[in-house]
Amino acid sequence: MKFLGNVISNENGPNTMEFDFAIQHPSVRKGQFVQINADEGVIIARVEEIYKTNRYFSRVESVVEYERGNNPIEKAFPVDRWEYLVANCSILGFFNNGKVERLTFPPSPGSKVTEIDETILESFLGFDKRGLWLGKIFHHNLEVRLNLTRLLQKHVAILAMSGAGKSHLVGVIIEELLDRESSLGKPAIIVLDPHGEYKRFLEDSFYRRNTKVFENENIKIGMSDLKLSNFCDFLELSNAQKREFGKILQNMKGEAYEIDDLIKTIDESDIKSPIKENLSGALSGLKSFEIFGKYTRPSIDFLARAGQLSILDLSNFVELKEKQIIASFFAKKLFYERRKGTIPPFLLVIEEAHQFCPEAKKEEALSRGIIETIAREGRKFYASLMLVSQRPIRLSATALSQCNTHIILRVTNPYDIDHIGKSSEGISGELIKALPSLRTGEAVIVGEAVNFPIMIKVRDKKSKKSEIEKTYEEVLVEFNLRNKKEFLDSF
Ligand SMILES: Nc1ncnc2c1ncn2[C@@H]1O[C@H](COP(=O)(O)OP(=O)(O)OP(=O)(O)O)[C@@H](O)[C@H]1O
Ligand SMILES: [Mg+2]
Repeated sequence: MKFLGNVISNENGPNTMEFDFAIQHPSVRKGQFVQINADEGVIIARVEEIYKTNRYFSRVESVVEYERGNNPIEKAFPVDRWEYLVANCSILGFFNNGKVERLTFPPSPGSKVTEIDETILESFLGFDKRGLWLGKIFHHNLEVRLNLTRLLQKHVAILAMSGAGKSHLVGVIIEELLDRESSLGKPAIIVLDPHGEYKRFLEDSFYRRNTKVFENENIKIGMSDLKLSNFCDFLELSNAQKREFGKILQNMKGEAYEIDDLIKTIDESDIKSPIKENLSGALSGLKSFEIFGKYTRPSIDFLARAGQLSILDLSNFVELKEKQIIASFFAKKLFYERRKGTIPPFLLVIEEAHQFCPEAKKEEALSRGIIETIAREGRKFYASLMLVSQRPIRLSATALSQCNTHIILRVTNPYDIDHIGKSSEGISGELIKALPSLRTGEAVIVGEAVNFPIMIKVRDKKSKKSEIEKTYEEVLVEFNLRNKKEFLDSF
C-alpha cells in the first residue's frame, strides 16, 4: 500500500477521534480514506482537511520585525524548505476480522499512514458485490455497489436542485434493478413521471422489452374501483354525506359504472335534502377531471410486474389536482394489493415528490396521506418509495424522515441546504458545505444504505443517452424555419 506520511504529535492529538499526519506523498486529497496498521487491526480514517505549516511564520513578531528591518524573512532563512503539508484525519473505526469497532486507544505518533486497501474499504463502507452499481466513490478506484435491502427496504430520498442529475441517477438505479439476474428476483418498478422523461427507456433496444408506458387515455380510474376512502381523499365530505354515500357504494358493489351512473343513482335515491344535492354536486365537480372511466387502466397486475418498468406519464395532465388524484389512487391500490401479496415487492418512484407529497393544506395535497402511509408502513410489506425532489423544503417532513437513505446532489439554495442539514441524519457540517460545489452527477449518500457517508460520482447510463438538449439558439432557428415554410406553403 502506498505510504502517505507519519502521524505527528501536536496540540490536537493523536487521540481516539482524530490525528494529523505529515504528508509525504503528493496524492493525498481531502475526503480520501486512509489506514494505519496497528497491532490489533486496521485503523480507518478520512482526511478532513489539509493545511500547510511553516515554523518560520508561526510567530507574529518575527514575521513583522524581519519585514520592518528591511531584511525579509525569506531572504534571511531557507523558509521554503520548512513548509510542510499536514492532513487532519477523523478516525472512523477500527477494522478487525471484518468487523468495525470503536477505537479506544489512539494511534501512536510516528505511525505510518498508507492508502487504504480497497477490499477493506469496500467491506468497511458496507458495499455488496451483488448490489446496485451506482458509480465510483470519490478519490478511490472503488465501485459503489449498494445492498438492495439496505437501500430499498426503508425508502430513499433523492434531493438536489434542478439539473444536478437526479433523474439520471434514478435512471441508473432502474437499470440496475432491471439488469438483476433473474434467479435473484426483481421488484416491480413504477414511476410517477410528471414530465414524461422516462419514456426514453423505450428508445433503448434492450430495456424496451421490459418497459411499459401509460399515458393520456391509457390512464383511467374505474369508478367502481373507488372506495369511500378514495373519495374522502378527493372530496370534502361531512359525516352524514359519508354515511349515505357509503350505503350507495355498497349497493352498487359488483357492477362497473361511470361517474354519471353514480350521480344518477344518488339523484334517484331517497337520501334526504340537502345531503343528496351536496353529494351529487360534489361528484359532478369531479367530472371536470377527465380521468374517471368505467374501468381502471392500467389494471394493477399489469402495472406492477416483477422486472417491469411501468411509467405513468402524467405530462399531458394539466391540473395538479388531476395528477394528485391519479397518484393517490394508484399508490393506494399498489399498497393494498401488496399487503395482500397479490403483486410483487415494488419500488414506487415519485418524481417531483414535492408536488405529490407537499407540506401543505390537505386540499392541496390529495396524495400525501397514502404516500406518508407507505413511507411509515411500507417496509413491512416490501413496498418501497423513492422520493425525488428539487424542493426538499416543500416536501412532507413525515415522508422525508421515513426515507432512511438520502442521496443528495448539488444544492445551492441556502434554505434547502439548511433543511437538508436538519432532515438528513448523519450528514456532517463538512458534507453540507460541499453540497453547493458538487458537479452534475456528483452525490453524497448518507443513511441506511452505507456505513459512513460517502461522496460518489454517478456512472453513465448504460441505456441510450438522451438527446443532448437543444440550445436556445437552435430552438429559435428551428422555429424560424418552420414559420418560413408555413408562410411559403400558404401560397
Ligand atoms: N452522472 C452523470 N453523468 C453524465 N451526465 C449526467 C449525469 N447526471 C446528470 N447528467 C446530465 O445532466 C443533465 C441534467 O440531469 P438530470 O435531468 O438528471 O437533472 P435533474 O436533477 O433531474 O433536473 P430536474 O430537477 O430539472 O429534473 C442531463 O442532461 C443528464 O444527462
Ligand atoms: Mg429530473
